[in-house]
Amino acid sequence: MNRELDGVFRPRSVAVIGASGKRGTIGHSILHNLIEYSFNGKVFPVNPKSKVIHSIKCYSTVLDVPDAVDLAIIIVPADHVGPILEQCGEKGVKGVVVISSGFKEVGPEGAAKEEAIVKIIRKYGMRMIGPNCFGVLNTDPEYSMNATFSKAQPLRGRIGFMSQSGALGEAILGLANDLNLGFSMFASVGNKADLSGNAILKYWGDDPNTDVILIYLESFGDPREFTRIARDLSRKKPIVAVKAGRTDAGARAVSSHTGVLAGLDVGTDALLEQCGVTRVTSIDELFDVAAALSNQPIPKGDRIAVITNAGGPGILATDAIVSLGMKMATFDKKTTKLLREKLPLVASVNNPVDVIAAGGPDSYRIAMDAVLADPNVDAVIVIFVPPVVVDHKAVINEIVAAIDNDKNRKTVLGCFMAIPSGVAGSEQMIKHKIPVYTFPESAAKAMSAMVRRRQWIERPISEPRTFKVQAKNAQKIIDDARADGQKSITGSEALAILEAYGVSIARSVRTDSAREACAVAGEIGFPVVMKADGPGVLHKTELGGVSTDLRSPEEVQVAFDAMKKNFSKGKTGFSGVMIQEMVPSGVETIIGMNHDPSFGPLIMFGLGGIFVEVMKDVTFKVHPVTPHDAKEMIESIKGYPLLNGFRGSAPVDFECLEETIMRLSQLVTDFPEIDSFDVNPFFAGADRNSSKAVDARFILRKEPPRVG
Ligand SMILES: Nc1ncnc2c1ncn2[C@@H]1O[C@H](COP(=O)(O)OP(=O)(O)O)[C@@H](O)[C@H]1O
Ligand SMILES: [Mg+2]
Repeated sequence: MNRELDGVFRPRSVAVIGASGKRGTIGHSILHNLIEYSFNGKVFPVNPKSKVIHSIKCYSTVLDVPDAVDLAIIIVPADHVGPILEQCGEKGVKGVVVISSGFKEVGPEGAAKEEAIVKIIRKYGMRMIGPNCFGVLNTDPEYSMNATFSKAQPLRGRIGFMSQSGALGEAILGLANDLNLGFSMFASVGNKADLSGNAILKYWGDDPNTDVILIYLESFGDPREFTRIARDLSRKKPIVAVKAGRTDAGARAVSSHTGVLAGLDVGTDALLEQCGVTRVTSIDELFDVAAALSNQPIPKGDRIAVITNAGGPGILATDAIVSLGMKMATFDKKTTKLLREKLPLVASVNNPVDVIAAGGPDSYRIAMDAVLADPNVDAVIVIFVPPVVVDHKAVINEIVAAIDNDKNRKTVLGCFMAIPSGVAGSEQMIKHKIPVYTFPESAAKAMSAMVRRRQWIERPISEPRTFKVQAKNAQKIIDDARADGQKSITGSEALAILEAYGVSIARSVRTDSAREACAVAGEIGFPVVMKADGPGVLHKTELGGVSTDLRSPEEVQVAFDAMKKNFSKGKTGFSGVMIQEMVPSGVETIIGMNHDPSFGPLIMFGLGGIFVEVMKDVTFKVHPVTPHDAKEMIESIKGYPLLNGFRGSAPVDFECLEETIMRLSQLVTDFPEIDSFDVNPFFAGADRNSSKAVDARFILRKEPPRVG
């Protein structure tokens, strides 16, 4: 077991430095909570101004405490924290939680103070949570420590909750109580000056009392480290995160499509998804999902049954289930037959099962039993809209009895279409670990998180592939471009980089004379495409630099003259054209990469062509891309049906497309000097021979490439 943070989470004695006898102060609340929650160890108030606080002997400094002190909670003004930490170090304190604010969050002066206290922490080998935080909690009866200043006394349970926002701490602990959700541990991490969220994640990964980990995130300290930890951990325990900051705040100067399409947030989404972390959009949803994951088994599959006593909510549930990518279960014939025999004639016996408003305890029991026994059902959402006449308690008793009776232990979520606690008998559901939601949509969302969890656990571990490539050829093109002072690589050179990495490209030849252009076109075979080629020619279509479907030498001649005339007047000048084989058919896709400031390279795939920024049908993964990632990228875009044989056309060669994405991912691994690129379009054809890139653009990084 990981014992690294025991000083913070499993102390035998706690000193509250800055304890106060004045109600309403933090120094009072924390001391009070430790006692009120029956901390299973010794508590020492420390405050030079008092002899006794809260009826307990108070010490002037931590050095005066006669016993050993494992953990110090510090609630003193920022300027005093340093000297107090020195004393803690001398005393042999193992962990500290600095509640005090006035550090990095207030500006450069505070940041300097923060650096100084971290030095002291490191000098003595202590571990610190905070500064600027709400405290820590461990409900294990062995410790029973509430070292927060919350008003509510948190319930014991199996959820670990980590919050980056201190202010939310109070709200979270209060709300969880209302929802009857219990915690194993809680930590408000504050400024994360010493202990990062990652360290706590690792610690909870090994905690036998924690089954589900919830995170309220504002920023990633070290996304790569997070990835490493979360990817393994999430196979053992579900991690659910709500990340603040979904909108793209600042427009960034970007010169590639991929850059434009990669909003600030796609990195977070891609990263969380690739590590099997469930991302939710609100605290509300965080708790909804947590209630499901910490109480119910995850379903074997995605075939959901709905039982209801009102039509409307049944339809809402059905819509939500389908739109979240799950399936409405198709009942076994035996099930419908049984329901038809036993339920009133007006009841609906297909999925959703509607026992109608008059449906009482018996109807619910019949429906629950039948549906839970059906081999085509993986999970059930049972809706009960409290009507005036039916005995709520009796209905709930029957629902609970049916679940207890279910040998298969199928997943069941409840929905009351009323504040759950307002329905008589609802405590029965809670007692039997059946989460109850107010709205069918919330129940469906929680169910969908569980289904995704099942898919994640069952997904085979996939590693990036390495292909045999001609890295030297690509290196030479990049070095030459740099030597020429170019910031980007386009046209035939860009295509040559792709070719070096085994990506198939349309046959292309560069020339600067009309006569040669005609000859080359003849060699390649009509029809051909002509494109303006040369340094700085980035957006060819906009500049009139693309002529497709040229069918004869005459047409090539005309197009050449026009392009030459047009470009000679323009910014880039005319330096020649590229004659390219015309790709007859296929779906235009885009494969790109863009560097995210915190996540590193993100790989993009989507529908390509000249309208990509309008369509915005693209998806991102954090580099490097595994075979599974590549497949998922392709399948996740809206335009997937176009790739999969739309209206009678043959499906594209998916294997080739996946391989192309992975080869480009390898290119990114090999060349950190590439800042971003677009391959657009890559024509995805029905087979390898007809799948080809026809255009690409690489933007180079400003700083010089790495040495060696
Ligand atoms: N070799 C080709 N075969 C078929 N169509 C092509 C070919 N080259 C370009 N096109 C069409 O022209 C569009 C623009 O060409 P592209 O080379 O991508 O120029 P740019 O992106 O600089 O405008 C492509 O999206 C595609 O529809
Ligand atoms: Mg293009």
